Amino acid sequence: MKIVITRRIPDSIKQMLEVNHTTYMWQEENVPIPYELLLEQVKDADALFTNVSDRIDKPIFQAAPKLKVVSTMAVGYDNIDIGEATARGILVGHTPDVLSEAVADLTFALLLATARKVVEAMNYIKEGSWKGWGPMLLTGQNVYNSTVGIIGMGGIGKGVARRASGFGMRILYHNRRRREDMEQELGVEYSSLDDLLQASDFVVMLAPATLETRRMIGERELSLMKPTAILINTSRGSNIDETALITALKKRQIWGAGLDVFEVEPIHADHPLIALDNVVLLPHIGSATVATRMEMAEMTALNILMGLSGKKIINIVNPDVYNMRG
Ligand code: GLV
Ligand code: GLV
Repeated sequence: MKIVITRRIPDSIKQMLEVNHTTYMWQEENVPIPYELLLEQVKDADALFTNVSDRIDKPIFQAAPKLKVVSTMAVGYDNIDIGEATARGILVGHTPDVLSEAVADLTFALLLATARKVVEAMNYIKEGSWKGWGPMLLTGQNVYNSTVGIIGMGGIGKGVARRASGFGMRILYHNRRRREDMEQELGVEYSSLDDLLQASDFVVMLAPATLETRRMIGERELSLMKPTAILINTSRGSNIDETALITALKKRQIWGAGLDVFEVEPIHADHPLIALDNVVLLPHIGSATVATRMEMAEMTALNILMGLSGKKIINIVNPDVYNMRG
């Protein structure tokens, strides 16, 4: 059977797929496959190895009559039309859990870097501006003993909460459903969104991108935050109204933002966020450690192999497909 791989992946993972199947692989490692080429390549594809930068929409499914399995090298799958896949009986796999700790690390890195102006401080040295120690030079916000508000309390949220405990932080969380298990285990406090926004020094967005979370943080929500507060987003750009955020940052309505994700990715040098002095911006690298990315690639491949061989995919997004088959 034919597997289409939309990005150059490590040889060992490609070899796993090629034991019993043929592959087409886009050769670029850091540039997405053009949509038109993907449309062409899926015509005779049985499976698709994809990632967050591909749009897997209805026309893709329409062009791929033989497609049986789609597996994305990501936990989030908002780039895939899941309803369309399910209606066509196509299995969709993803990579939950394996990346939670790596993303929690990066979330904390971004929180610390924004609060303590780490990037600005290095640039200060690079520019040759450092003349001597200054009483208020490059002063930021305290992290230790502050209050963090986590929006979206899943595996990554839990990882962030454990790290926050080590920093002596009070931990509030907001989630679709209350997580009494985590309240017991981690001492986190459930909060309404508005109370969380008003009380937190750090608001950490970790919710998946859905219709309900779309622009969940907008002008009104930003106006509830403290002028010293910092907004961190390592989930999806669509969860925050970026235009409202830029306005709030310019007006110093909030103190800063650390962002790993954007409404439209990639962003380029002319993006209005880049001109601001109170942001730290990263190119969607939440799960980017060597070990984690290898685990994600392997899990993505295993999802495909299980799906093609008729074995149950454990990390499935749309188990309804199995129920439909009875
Ligand atoms: C990355 O953004 C992912 O969803 O894994
Ligand atoms: C700073 O380096 C200090 O010693 O206070």
